[in-house]
Amino acid sequence: MCLCFKYDRNESLLIKQIVKDILNKLLSTSSSDIENLVGIDARIQEMKTLLCLASDDVRMVGIWGMGGIGKTTLVRAVYSRISYQFEGCSFLENVAEDLKKKGLIGLQEKLLSHLLEEENLNMKELTSIKARLHSKKVLIVLDNVNDPTILECLIGNQDWFGRGSTIIITTRDKRLLLSHKINLYKVHKFNDDEALEFLARYSLKHELLREDFLELSRVVICYAQGLPLALTVLGSFLFSMSKEEWRDQLDKLKSIPNMKIHEVLKISYDGLDFEEKNIFLDIACFLKGEDKNYVKEILDYCGFFSVSGIRALADKSLISFFHNRIMMHDLIQEMGMEIVRQESHNPGQRSRLWLHKDINDALKKNTVRAKK
Ligand SMILES: Nc1ncnc2c1ncn2[C@@H]1O[C@H](COP(=O)(O)OP(=O)(O)OP(=O)(O)O)[C@@H](O)[C@H]1O
Ligand SMILES: [Mg+2]
Repeated sequence: MCLCFKYDRNESLLIKQIVKDILNKLLSTSSSDIENLVGIDARIQEMKTLLCLASDDVRMVGIWGMGGIGKTTLVRAVYSRISYQFEGCSFLENVAEDLKKKGLIGLQEKLLSHLLEEENLNMKELTSIKARLHSKKVLIVLDNVNDPTILECLIGNQDWFGRGSTIIITTRDKRLLLSHKINLYKVHKFNDDEALEFLARYSLKHELLREDFLELSRVVICYAQGLPLALTVLGSFLFSMSKEEWRDQLDKLKSIPNMKIHEVLKISYDGLDFEEKNIFLDIACFLKGEDKNYVKEILDYCGFFSVSGIRALADKSLISFFHNRIMMHDLIQEMGMEIVRQESHNPGQRSRLWLHKDINDALKKNTVRAKK
């Protein structure tokens, strides 16, 4: 490993920089999380080529594709492979959700704190992003952008950042990227070989005969339509069953019209028991992103067996964990919220209310249903 540093009179700063560079290099060289992903090397390579094609001082690439196709997964992998080359890095995950919670100023403060490695920055005390960053080579990832003002406020003009800076944006909406000078990368679905490789992992846990595995995989691949999220959910669900059980479930899948992705994901929800369904809906409507211990406490208080319930949901890939927080993919959350909405067109009659407007409406009209 070779590291090169400019002479700096401040010894502590120099040591800090050496430690940071070594850590970055170690992190970028091998990560078992990335190695376990399917088809990722080819996709990272395509992204790198696109980044090299950008001739401007600041390179911008937009990754777009439908929900659940793997945009965040890809950009995380690219970030961990290239971040060591930059003087400052920021990965703003799920910007659309953060915007609702923190607003634009909050997002700007977060971005600057990451890039300058300073805590509690206050935008009022700062002249502008440009003033602090124009000579710094930075890497910025804005994940899940859904509003053009985010781009205006966070990355504005290319002269805000130093030469060699790289900005990667992920979005489901291609139109957001067209107004800016951004190269586009469309994430491909898994092809059949990749989907098969992906499913083979689940089958390893079960002693399926090769013919059984191929038969089951063919149907799963057909219904998941190459979408990694659907493959994850269907794979965890079907490969945990006995042969008789998965035959029943396959028949159910076949009856879904037009293979709507929500409906495909709902198969996994339908397979939960009563208590697991309730825990799933509570997390989808209220508790996504919260600390695991806090969620357990609330669920226990509601009379659920939280530990086994949470484990069952994780086993079926309906939730995951990140830094001890409970995560749920947006599409799976939307599916859960839709299940609650479908209970009644009258919000007061539904089992859960999470929008101010609906709560207000139900209380005003006094239509809130009593818990049975
Ligand atoms: N190359 C891959 N190999 C293995 N699993 C993958 C791969 N790409 C995506 N996945 C899995 O698919 C699921 C969805 O991926 P991801 O969250 O990246 O989608 P997305 O495009 O960012 O969706 P959204 O638009 O809703 O944010 C995740 O569970 C992820 O682990
Ligand atoms: Mg995403």
